[in-house]
Amino acid sequence: MSDSRVPGFTSTGSKRPDALFGGAEPGEDASVPERMVRASGCRVWDAQGREYVDYVMALGAVALGYGHPDVNRAAEQAIAAGVVGPLPPVLEEELAEALSRRIPWLERVRFLKTGAEAVAAAVRLARVATGRERALGCGYHGWLDWCQGTEGVPAATRALYGELPFNDPDGTRQLIREAGDRLAVVVVEPVVVVEPTRQWLDVLRAETERVGAVLVFDEIKTAFRLGVGGAAERYGVRPDLVVLGKALANGFPLAAVGGRAAVMAGVSRTWISSTLATESVALAAAKATLEVMERADVCAHLHRVGTRLLHGLHRLQRQHPDVVTGVGGIAEMCFLHFAAEHLSRDVARGCAARGVLFKRTAYNFVSLAHDDATVDRTLDTLAETLGAVG
Ligand SMILES: Cc1ncc(COP(=O)(O)O)c(C=O)c1O
Repeated sequence: MSDSRVPGFTSTGSKRPDALFGGAEPGEDASVPERMVRASGCRVWDAQGREYVDYVMALGAVALGYGHPDVNRAAEQAIAAGVVGPLPPVLEEELAEALSRRIPWLERVRFLKTGAEAVAAAVRLARVATGRERALGCGYHGWLDWCQGTEGVPAATRALYGELPFNDPDGTRQLIREAGDRLAVVVVEPVVVVEPTRQWLDVLRAETERVGAVLVFDEIKTAFRLGVGGAAERYGVRPDLVVLGKALANGFPLAAVGGRAAVMAGVSRTWISSTLATESVALAAAKATLEVMERADVCAHLHRVGTRLLHGLHRLQRQHPDVVTGVGGIAEMCFLHFAAEHLSRDVARGCAARGVLFKRTAYNFVSLAHDDATVDRTLDTLAETLGAVG
């Protein structure tokens, strides 16, 4: 990894070369792509001008393909109209209306810029609604203090947060009951490597209601992918609040928190606000994204193409059991489990050398720009790479 003026090489941790491709051994050729200059559809060009087919898809922030023309056109119109101003834009209300028309359990919606901010806002609103402080979470919810146990987070903040076990109904029931009337909120990622079981979802809904806590679905990866309305739509669960981000604006910076009007009304009793939450470019991009999502039935495409990829990955696992020990995820977001860390690195590097960016760990994402032929060529590349490392 070359020396960088940006500490840690980049401001987005999961785009570090060692995150994507594994750390290079001393003396090893480190010719992996480190920085990019352009992306279009499902293709990316690095600083050396090399072209790749991409499955990182901006860490799931892009479901229509990079630079979708309709989204770009909407963004360009918003730029021409001045981007920001002294008043909230008409677009803010229009987008909130369009989202709640399509996702009716979003009775009210507020916008922010990042996923982490939007989840933190959901937790704040739950604390306001319940007058309680404790939070349970399951999955990744961003870098902010409320859910992190890392250095720099005050011990008093850490003490309010506990991890909930994914797909473990008994453990979940027990933790929620133990927290009881001190529990403000349960925040879950509805898919963590595998799909949620009906029983776990039922326990989440019933037990949060029982103790009077707010149930939040962190749908930052799953909304606009499993369905426009995410996992709540696919699995028929109605959380109290939902957090949206990533694919919401097809790569433009926007996130949202929404849900039951009574809980969202808490915004008037606390302070949740950001200067650029109402800039128009991302709002316009999100409105255009939603229109394409509906018109092109994007989630059906992601499921169909993703299933083709997933089946292919299972085939590769059967053909290379010494290298690949399993397949994680679902059609829309998937990855391979490797027998050893160094194999995951060799495969990621081998794929990059052959013109494919395929993540070593969770998740690879398909987009509207990935078609059957692209997926088939990628599976051929993976087969060749696995043959070479195995
Ligand atoms: C489920 C989930 N929640 C929250 C976040 C944080 O979003 P952001 O990185 O936009 O702050 C992420 C990001 O990967 C995520 O996947």
